[in-house]
Amino acid sequence: MTTPSSDRARTSRQAHVTGWGRYAPAQVLTNADLERMVDTSDEWIRSRTGIRERRVAAAHETTASMAAVAGLRAIAVAGLQPDDIDLILLGTLTPDYWMPSTAALVKEAIGNTRAAAMDVMAACSGFVYAYASAHAHIVSGMARHALVIGAETLTRFLDYSDRNTCILFGDGAGAVVLSASDEPGGGLGIELTTEPSGAYMIWLPAGGAKAPPSLDTLARREHFIRMEGRETYRFATRTLATTALTAVERAGLQPSDIDLFIPHQANIRIIEAVAKGLDLPMERMFVNVDRYGNTSAASIPIALAEAVDSGRVKVGDDIVMVAFGAGFTSGAIALRWTADPARGAIADTIAPDVVRIRPPVDWDSAEAIPPALAAVLGGTVVGDETDLDDIVPGDADAGAAAAEGHGPDGRGSDARGTKVHA
Ligand SMILES: CC(C)(COP(=O)(O)OP(=O)(O)OC[C@H]1O[C@@H](n2cnc3c(N)ncnc32)[C@H](O)[C@@H]1OP(=O)(O)O)[C@@H](O)C(=O)NCCC(=O)NCCS
Repeated sequence: MTTPSSDRARTSRQAHVTGWGRYAPAQVLTNADLERMVDTSDEWIRSRTGIRERRVAAAHETTASMAAVAGLRAIAVAGLQPDDIDLILLGTLTPDYWMPSTAALVKEAIGNTRAAAMDVMAACSGFVYAYASAHAHIVSGMARHALVIGAETLTRFLDYSDRNTCILFGDGAGAVVLSASDEPGGGLGIELTTEPSGAYMIWLPAGGAKAPPSLDTLARREHFIRMEGRETYRFATRTLATTALTAVERAGLQPSDIDLFIPHQANIRIIEAVAKGLDLPMERMFVNVDRYGNTSAASIPIALAEAVDSGRVKVGDDIVMVAFGAGFTSGAIALRWTADPARGAIADTIAPDVVRIRPPVDWDSAEAIPPALAAVLGGTVVGDETDLDDIVPGDADAGAAAAEGHGPDGRGSDARGTKVHA
């Protein structure tokens, strides 16, 4: 990452949102689909959460691939080239791998050669934490253009026999570009908090150093997200309004001055509680939880991009993004919007298939889609026909064929060479 020395001296340097973009996978999982999987009902889910449907990543899609599409869209909207970005921060709790970082895969996929890239783990607050960090990098002069992404493939970490959790979450990605500017605007007030007394209220028990993966942990279904719903709900309703209020006050504003709140989209009742806590009407809250469910770190950047693209944000508006999540973490950013909302249309020029995440050359994993989900969605992963001997490190042609999604056998398959049959 380069640090322009002339920028260091500037004290009035601001970080403005100059680009925004989102990506939602095409496959929809409805409440009716979930009725076929667990003992639940559309009525229960809608009345308790406000969720009608959520998106599910296809077998060839991952957190990195969705993040790269959203990221390229944000870069295009900002009017930049991928190599103009000198910092990539990616909030996620569902990385492609424990290592390398998903941000590193995204850097390669978008064709960036300059940026420092890392993941930010703050669960559903991950995007807001990443945004705050990028803001600090920019105002301090350490970065000029930062790509901040929230991306999740939660449907691969859910227990589809646990009705308490599997109804809530979905997949997707959103991104913004933050750019240095000497003009007023951008981030005005930021608040981040972490409350570890709630550490085990939402957690994923196994796979880490405390409980390394084993047949035992698999048998006990400890590789899936677990949650104490009521305690989490209590934390969210207690914390979101106060976190937002602190950020608003740091900006020298009152809640009534804020044109639009973009709250974490976990549950419509939680969003209603935030509005009540701030003594504001629901019209000031942006809501899309009905269509995406809870996409964790992706939730706020998807909502922000939708809000801007649907005409809910104008130049000069003050907006607040506020999140909460496992940890318990919470964070809020109050900012003044300065970008022309019409530029959002440029994102449409970036088709999802421009992105290829380079597959590992000598390894392929098991089926991506959980069997219970594949059965309901009508797609069954029937096996991997890639002959791994055909792909060896350093064999550019074979690697490129796999990356093109052709597979070494020349027949149609996804980027990993896995056959997905409808
Ligand atoms: C999960 C949540 C929707 C549950 O709603 P709730 O009103 O608190 O419901 P409860 O957990 O009290 O459960 C009430 C009953 O519904 C049942 N229930 C739970 N999930 C159900 C489902 N999907 N369908 C039908 N019934 C369900 C429970 O088993 C319980 O039954 P019981 O009374 O016989 O024991 C709510 O607690 C919530 O939104 N919590 C926050 C979750 C969240 O935001 N997590 C992500 C943080 S980033």
